Amino acid sequence: MRLRKLISHGLIVLVVVIGFSLAAVARGSNNPPSNENVQFARETSDLMLNELFAALTQEFNETTPNNVEQGKQAISLIFNDKNKDMRLVGTLAPLEENDRPRDSFERQANMLALAGQPYISVERVDDQWYYRRSIPLSNFRSECALCHTNFPPGPTSDWVGALMLRVPIRE
Ligand code: HEC
Repeated sequence: MRLRKLISHGLIVLVVVIGFSLAAVARGSNNPPSNENVQFARETSDLMLNELFAALTQEFNETTPNNVEQGKQAISLIFNDKNKDMRLVGTLAPLEENDRPRDSFERQANMLALAGQPYISVERVDDQWYYRRSIPLSNFRSECALCHTNFPPGPTSDWVGALMLRVPIRE
């Protein structure tokens, strides 16, 4: 008798779990975000880009041959590897292995960045829609080569990688 009860309880739980999973799949896959919500994410990404660019510019202004290692650590802490919403990506002897392209968006974006082209995509990652964008970076300051010793002494117009951002799009 107790066994029967246990089994029927188990079945009910299973049905509820399957129901929730199916609902989640249907919700996630079938509804691309509205233009309005994509626009909102695009505007957020513009603000975020300006914030990051200001922070990087501040660091470059302060980088000297004497504080290269500290500057590298400061940049690494801002671009914490756990934060997937903002990444510096490159394939030219990257300072961190984690900075190599990690998915198809980043591979495509990095290829375009090395030719100076930006890239934008609205796509789902797991169950979340994202506005993803890549901003190509050139060796546009003399300080680049202090930390990236494989870059030519700058400034030069060589494209070296990209800053990649992703903004979750509101439901
Ligand atoms: C103070 C040192 C420093 C300076 C100056 C600097 N970078 Fe970096 N850069 C870093 C660090 C550290 C990382 C790795 C960040 C991380 O943890 O993801 C990085 C990452 C990158 C990446 C991703 C690939 C890689 O090498 O890891 C690119 C591309 C890049 N930087 C371009 C530039 C450009 C272009 C400039 C000049 C405009 C520049 N950097 C100046 C320290 C520096």
